[in-house]
Amino acid sequence: MTSRRSFLKAASTGSLLATLGPRAARTADLRLNEIEARIARRDFRALIKEDLPTPSLILDSEIFDQNLRRMAEHSKATGLKLRPHVKIHKSVDVARRQLGLGAIGLTTATIAESELMSSSGLKGVFWTRQPAGRNNITRAVALSKRDSTFLLVVDDPIIAELVEQAAASAGARCTVVVDVFAGLTRHGMQSGRPALELAQKVDASKHLRLHGLMGYSGGASHTRGWEERRKKSCDDLAGLLETVELCRKSGLPVNIVSGGSTGTYNIDTENGLTELQCGSYIFMDTGYRKVGGKSNAAVYDDFGAALTVMTTVVSKRHPNQCTIDAGNKALLRPTDEAKGMPWITVENQGAEYGILKWKDGDRDLKLGERVELYPTNLDMSVNVYDRIYVARGEQIIDVWPIMGRSGAPQR
Ligand SMILES: Cc1ncc(COP(=O)(O)O)c(C=O)c1O
Repeated sequence: MTSRRSFLKAASTGSLLATLGPRAARTADLRLNEIEARIARRDFRALIKEDLPTPSLILDSEIFDQNLRRMAEHSKATGLKLRPHVKIHKSVDVARRQLGLGAIGLTTATIAESELMSSSGLKGVFWTRQPAGRNNITRAVALSKRDSTFLLVVDDPIIAELVEQAAASAGARCTVVVDVFAGLTRHGMQSGRPALELAQKVDASKHLRLHGLMGYSGGASHTRGWEERRKKSCDDLAGLLETVELCRKSGLPVNIVSGGSTGTYNIDTENGLTELQCGSYIFMDTGYRKVGGKSNAAVYDDFGAALTVMTTVVSKRHPNQCTIDAGNKALLRPTDEAKGMPWITVENQGAEYGILKWKDGDRDLKLGERVELYPTNLDMSVNVYDRIYVARGEQIIDVWPIMGRSGAPQR
């Protein structure tokens, strides 16, 4: 691989170094293996964005901290607990910060995420996809045995039975939440009597402990317009709340009623949930920003866009456009947006290339210039990188591995 040093050395015979400015000489001295050694030692002094390879993920620490605090304050003010979804970041470092600000646990999509968070000492992990198949059931039971704070869901009596049998033979007891349909046809037992009967079955199972109910109104989260979103969320969650009542009347324990998303965090305070599973709020993406907020109908700006994919301009052979080093493999989308450059539109050009275009002839980008893009769907984008570079301004202040992607034994 050609190092940035040799690239810049070669380029310096022309005008590139001059174009890039004084930082370029400094960058040329900072060889890639030195950067890696420093990251391994957690010595981030004098490490700046320009030293980093591209494409890479950059987190604006200030905006990230504001997002964390804002949701934590909302949770305190409303009494609605927070169990943030980790599929957005798959990062133990991020999860620790969420818990540090008062989150009661973490919500996960996969057993691997659950194992990762739990084995990192983080408590209250709630796996919201029911275990099906021998591998997942065995792992969920084993995790329940190791970590009594681990919660799993079922939406089917067949799975409740299989988990009961596996728990019996492992000598384990699993804490179970019944997943109730809330408008998203991908999962959830039909609300009302069917969900009540499933809850009763769980409660009656010797090796299962009924903990409560959940309902994820995934269609509400990205509904455009706050009032429309509110209506959709309330409609979707009505069956869940009816089931909560039925369960309570039948004397079943309903310690938690879990659900919600970033899009409905300030809506689900009014429809009976006891805890929120919001995830995207920590980073935000262009998909979310378009849905509009309560106070700003045009842009959902309750939480700031903290995460970008940093790219480099690698070719400029045509007017009003340039090529960057991020394409399909970096999940570049035409709906991505360039940070601080609203005049730019994004186009895909292949596996490793993207195109940035602009109409205004007075504008220009330089060869070697860094352009940061706000991703369209951040949890997909995060999943193609191994680390998050945390930045304060130009300075890198931390590097967080995305362990749920590369560190977990299996997804
Ligand atoms: C079950 C569940 N809960 C919560 C969330 C978090 O939603 P958001 O990232 O919109 O906050 C998701 C995201 O897909 C989810 O699948």
